[in-house]
Amino acid sequence: MAYTVPKLKDFSPAALDKAVASLLAALEKESAAVRNDDERKDFRNRWLARKDGVLTKVNDLWLKAAPKESKREVGQRVNQLKAEVEQKVESALKGRMPQASDSAIDISLPGVHRPIGAEHPIIRTMNEIIFVFRNLGYSVAEGPVIETDYYNFEALNFPPNHPARDTQDTLFLANQELKPTRERLLLRTHTSPVQIRTMEKLKPPLRILVPGKVHRNDPPDASHSPMFHQVEGLAVDMNITFGDLKGTLDHAMKALFGSDVKTSFRPSFFPFTEPSAEMFVSCFICGGSGRRGTDPCRPCKQTGWIEILGCGMVDPNVFEFVKDNGYDPEKISGFAFGMGVDRIAMLKYGLDDLQLFFQGDVRFLEQFK
Ligand code: PHE
Repeated sequence: MAYTVPKLKDFSPAALDKAVASLLAALEKESAAVRNDDERKDFRNRWLARKDGVLTKVNDLWLKAAPKESKREVGQRVNQLKAEVEQKVESALKGRMPQASDSAIDISLPGVHRPIGAEHPIIRTMNEIIFVFRNLGYSVAEGPVIETDYYNFEALNFPPNHPARDTQDTLFLANQELKPTRERLLLRTHTSPVQIRTMEKLKPPLRILVPGKVHRNDPPDASHSPMFHQVEGLAVDMNITFGDLKGTLDHAMKALFGSDVKTSFRPSFFPFTEPSAEMFVSCFICGGSGRRGTDPCRPCKQTGWIEILGCGMVDPNVFEFVKDNGYDPEKISGFAFGMGVDRIAMLKYGLDDLQLFFQGDVRFLEQFK
């Protein structure tokens, strides 16, 4: 029930105090109920309107109606009430949480949440590899993902129709048949073309690292993807030997996987390196034993070794393609290596499915924040 100002019969101080107290209680209650600007206006009118406001009624029913001898007593109280009501009307909405209906912009709603992204585990792994080699004086070079046959194969000493081209399962761009072979466009199958591109631009000595995407015509499964990532390395200088290659990579693997890992080099073949090798690191999952407790170690297939990269001394035939820029195979030598980042990232993070990297599932990616 809304408060109405009662007529007073008894003007004794005690009766006045009681009347004032019940009025103040009503004031307090109504002010607390004010929820928005409209309600505040109503609240103010109800108490302060000249015509029918509560204070006007107090004036009429209490002050004007008071007997002479009580006027002073009543007047004092009415004045206090007036101040009290004005103060309550003034402060009605203050200090209260804004409500949805207060205005068009609801500042009580939670803000727009923009999740902060995180480095993708593959990019993070690439950056870790780059960091290790940066400390050895390597800089970063990049090249196009859509590459010509010349850079991807010919200048890397794959002769036309060389069977090694088949092993790469190359994805060619459509409608290239009218072009001479070397100009035909394809998705690069490795980062090695950036070796040539960089040697065309920069004179020796050279130390570069090449991170990037590569493509091969492999159907996706737990360990294959038509798109994956490599980091290539190339060092060219006078008197670079296979010993430099081994020392550099051994250091890098210890920096990446822990100082306990050992490296092992086994003969291999790449058209653009001679001699060529595959480098293995001792399995950092099982410590090289091939077993995890009583179980066989899966990542190294119980061999205790994990193949990490291909490498070798730059083939003199490759230097022939950039001889004019100071790469005389009689005077300089170099080594190169290329590693698959995705596999390294899988090993590092203990994943058994390569596809997780490319599905864009936030629940997976969030774990790498
Ligand atoms: N390009 C080779 C590959 O994709 C790797 C490699 C790079 C080997 C450099 C030797 C030297 O498999």
